Amino acid sequence: MNALVTGGAGFIGSHLAARLLTDGHRVTVLDNLSTGNTKRISRLAVRFIEGDVRDYRMIRQALQDVDAIFHLAAVVGVPHAMTHQWDSLTTNILGTHNLLNAADAGQIPIFVASSSAIYGKVAQSPVSEEDDICLGNTHKPSWTYSYAKLAEEELALAAAHERSVCVKIGRYFNVIGPGQSAAYGMVVPRFIARALRGDPLPVYGNGTQTRTFADVEDVVNATLAMWNRAPWGSVYNIGGQQEITILELARKIIQLTHSTSEIHLIPYELAFGKGFEEPLRRRPSTAKIHTLGYTPRFSLDETIMRVVKSMTEESESELTP
Ligand SMILES: NC(=O)c1ccc[n+]([C@@H]2O[C@H](COP(=O)([O-])OP(=O)(O)OC[C@H]3O[C@@H](n4cnc5c(N)ncnc54)[C@H](O)[C@@H]3O)[C@@H](O)[C@H]2O)c1
Repeated sequence: MNALVTGGAGFIGSHLAARLLTDGHRVTVLDNLSTGNTKRISRLAVRFIEGDVRDYRMIRQALQDVDAIFHLAAVVGVPHAMTHQWDSLTTNILGTHNLLNAADAGQIPIFVASSSAIYGKVAQSPVSEEDDICLGNTHKPSWTYSYAKLAEEELALAAAHERSVCVKIGRYFNVIGPGQSAAYGMVVPRFIARALRGDPLPVYGNGTQTRTFADVEDVVNATLAMWNRAPWGSVYNIGGQQEITILELARKIIQLTHSTSEIHLIPYELAFGKGFEEPLRRRPSTAKIHTLGYTPRFSLDETIMRVVKSMTEESESELTP
C-alpha cells in the first residue's frame, strides 16, 4: 500500500504509521501539528506534509499516488474540544467531508477513526455497535466532541451507502500507550506524569465513573484487522475490556509508580464549570471485532508500565546534556 495517514504526527497516527512502514508499506503523513509533533515521526521514513484537512487542495496534493487512507486527524479529547469547539467541529466535519470526497474522486478506500464519545450518556455496559446513542444538550460544551465525531460517522456512512465509497469506521474507546501527550486532558498520561513528579492526582467528581483502556499497539492491530477483513460500510468498537473506576485507576498508578502522590477529589463544576456532564460507564462490547481474529496482547498494568517507561526515558533524555 501507499497509505495516507491524516493526523499521523499524533499519538495513534504515529504508531499506525510506524506499523505500516514495518509491514512494508509506504506512508504519507498529513498533519497541521495543532496537537501533533514531528518528533513522533522523526525516525520514520514517511513523506510528511504539514497541512490542514479542511483544505481540499492540500488533501488532493497529499493523495498523489496514494491507494489507502487512514483518517485520524481530529481535535481530540473532551476537555480540549470544550475550549476549541470551532476547530473540533470544522476539523471533524469539513475535514472528513473533504477526505471522503477525495476518496470518492480517486476511488481510494478509507478508514475513519470515530470515538466511543458518540455513545454519550448510554448507560448499558458493555455497549455494542447496534445500541442507540444518547447525547446531551447542545448548549453544553462537554458534548461538542461527541457531536463532531457523530457527524463524522454519519458522513462516512452516507458516503458508503449513497456514493459507494469504500469506508470502514473504527470506534476507538480510550486508547493509551507510549508517546501520548499529557497536555490535552487524557487521564492516564496526566496521572502518570503527576505521579512521577509526586504531584496530587486530580480525580473529578467522586471517582466512581468507569472506563476501559486499550493499548495503542492493540488498537493499531485492531485497525489493521478491520482494514484487511471487515466489510465495507461497517462500524466496529475498538477498545479494552478491563473496566476500572477513575479512583481505582489513580490508586493503581500511584502503586505501580511507587509514588507518594495524594488523590484530590475535585467537583466537576470547579474543574469544568457549571453543567459539565460525562458518562458514568463506558465499556465496549468487543464481540464484533473479535470475529475478525483480533485479540489484544496487553493488560492494563502492562500498558501503564509501558507509558511509565517511555515517560521516564523521555525526561532522562531531556536531562542529558
Ligand atoms: N486517544 C484516544 O483515546 C481516542 C479515543 C477515541 C477516538 N480517538 C480518535 O483517534 C484519532 C487520533 O487521536 P489521537 O489520540 O492520536 O489524538 P492526537 O491529538 O494525538 O492526534 C490527532 C492529530 O490530528 C492533527 N490535527 C488536528 N486537527 C487537524 C487538522 N485540521 N488538519 C490536519 N491535522 C490535524 C493533530 O495535530 C494531531 O497530530 C482521532 O480521530 C480521535 O478522535 C482517539
